[in-house]
Amino acid sequence: MRELILETLRQEKHISGQEIGKRLRISRTAVWKNVNELRKIGYQIESSPKIGYTFIKSTNLLLSEEIKFGLDTQIMGKKVVHYNTVSSTQDIAGEMARCGAEEGTLVIAEMQEKGRGRKGRNWVSLSESGIYFSLILRPNLLPSQVTQIPLVAGIALTRAIRKIVPLRTTIKWPNDILIGKKKVGGILTEMSSEIDRINFIVLGIGLNVNMPASLLRGVPNGTATSLIEECGEHTSRAKLVQSFLREFELTYNKYLNSGFSSLKDEWKTLNNTIGARVKVSGGEKEIEGMVIDINDNGFLLIKKDDSEVGMIVTGDVSFCGRLP
Ligand code: BTN
Repeated sequence: MRELILETLRQEKHISGQEIGKRLRISRTAVWKNVNELRKIGYQIESSPKIGYTFIKSTNLLLSEEIKFGLDTQIMGKKVVHYNTVSSTQDIAGEMARCGAEEGTLVIAEMQEKGRGRKGRNWVSLSESGIYFSLILRPNLLPSQVTQIPLVAGIALTRAIRKIVPLRTTIKWPNDILIGKKKVGGILTEMSSEIDRINFIVLGIGLNVNMPASLLRGVPNGTATSLIEECGEHTSRAKLVQSFLREFELTYNKYLNSGFSSLKDEWKTLNNTIGARVKVSGGEKEIEGMVIDINDNGFLLIKKDDSEVGMIVTGDVSFCGRLP
């Protein structure tokens, strides 16, 4: 009912409680109660005895109503579950996926108490200033192909940010979103699988949006940044999430239909890793050299100082010296 009342208020400039009640077949008191609920969660709705209710402004919270409003995707974000505080959206989405939740279900929180990054690292998740969500995927892929999912999501996240904010975000292989040399977003891919099939993937996205640098200082090495730090302006988090869901649906469908090779050229135009001298650790082997390319599987190709070319499937990249 809350959703229907909100929709009606958004459609009409001014509308009386009686008229809303008539359209939705509920009493004026029920309308009034719901409007008060909406006010409590941050919607600005004015009321006057002569003209009735006037919708003034949306909430800043990433409620299901906000994310779904005007969203034109077929699958991604069709179901949205919002929390104020959670331990980690990954855990909740994982549990929902185990219980059969559909592909495209989005679990989003204002704050995480135990937000995590790759390799169990902490992901700082401050209230109402960042974006923290997990998306359930059920692709018909082999478990070995899961390393391509963060690359697919990286394309979508980079495109989504660039569409909303005038900033040149880039992808650092495999799963970091950077502005210059500083990290603004990260992608975490977790899966449940059998030997030959994926049961589900939980794709986690964290993005530093409206937090000031003073709050980012808690992040190790001062290597992180936020969109507001880089462009000086507050960005609508709901618009960013919608933009990601749209871009991800397009990119993911192309990937499922035509493979990573169909996205490779685009990934290359958005990345900052090819052409850089790097050290890769934490994967199957440690290697240092010049990144010369990625292959059709999304693996990194590195030319070592002895000219031998190594192929990296997974690992942590650190830049040695200047970016290309
Ligand atoms: C990384 O850069 O290592 C990945 C960071 C991913 C963070 C997101 S925030 C939403 C989701 N829930 C988590 O606990 N982690 C991911």
